[in-house]
Amino acid sequence: MLSSSHSSRIRKNLLRWYDRNHRVLPWRAPELRGNAYATWVSEIMLQQTRVAVVVPYFQRFLARFPSLSSLARAPISEVLRHWSGLGYYRRARQLHAGAQWLLTQANGEFPRDYAAALQIPGVGRYTAGAVLSIAYGQAFPAVDGNVRRVLQRLAGRSLSPARLEAEAQKLLSPRRPGDFNQALMELGALICLPARPQCSACPLRRLCRYKLGARKRPGAAPPRSPAAPVFEPLNLHYGLLQNRRRIWLTQRPSTADWMPELWELPAITDGAPHPVLLRLRHSITRYRIDARVYAATRRQLLQPAPGAWFLPAEAAALPLTGLTRKILRRLLILKPA
Ligand code: ADE
Repeated sequence: MLSSSHSSRIRKNLLRWYDRNHRVLPWRAPELRGNAYATWVSEIMLQQTRVAVVVPYFQRFLARFPSLSSLARAPISEVLRHWSGLGYYRRARQLHAGAQWLLTQANGEFPRDYAAALQIPGVGRYTAGAVLSIAYGQAFPAVDGNVRRVLQRLAGRSLSPARLEAEAQKLLSPRRPGDFNQALMELGALICLPARPQCSACPLRRLCRYKLGARKRPGAAPPRSPAAPVFEPLNLHYGLLQNRRRIWLTQRPSTADWMPELWELPAITDGAPHPVLLRLRHSITRYRIDARVYAATRRQLLQPAPGAWFLPAEAAALPLTGLTRKILRRLLILKPA
């Protein structure tokens, strides 16, 4: 698709732009250079979550689990607690399981071999490519949603997943594969935006089909960005039960699809007759939650879910759902973040 001289101009312009414009982010800190464990953590956190949200989580996570072995040896409840609020908790479980697997199978080191990396629980082609290129300087592509959009716009058409990987591989800088992959991601995040691409500020504008007027040419329509996500409204009613200074929390079943084993405020039947203590909105994945918290008694609880009384300091140390942590902070039961 792209000629080799075209590819080399794209590579050069993009890396020059990245050197001048990349964001200073904690996983790019010089002291973490070559640290495949830290790169792995950052890449898992960055899947489905925005950079600005990930930054403080990444810093706290690495402060608490500075090495792969420290993560592998920690109890899962402690790992989930450090993930609390980031969502998609399956990622935390897989990271933990992956660290344990590497500790027993691979001397606790993230493998340098691509096929070996793909054996780790939760590591797919994107994560393997990202870690091997960024931490080890190996020339593997890493195609995420941003990179897919950039490549499709450059090409002026949509590309199959296999074709996207092949094009990303051809474009890749053999000297700086990690920077190159991050430069494509960065361009997608800062310039080549889904709805309003900032073409006039783009270092690839003269090399791109999208900018060159493909938009107007019949039959060469630019690939459309994926359809806007569909949001689902969800009304939740929680009860706040207090016994002196203690609050009642319940634990989600280990078989729950959604945030298994995390602790939360108990659900109550219809909250209408009780005083509303708090109403807040919260977004998790595609759900737009309207949560109401009522002063309640044991009899108003929806199901007899297993639970226990906790002092505020004990509650703070539990793996709470992000929403429950937010509610308890708003009610000043937990200290602010
Ligand atoms: N998104 C996914 N990986 C990233 C990275 N390394 N830097 C910035 N954004 C990213």
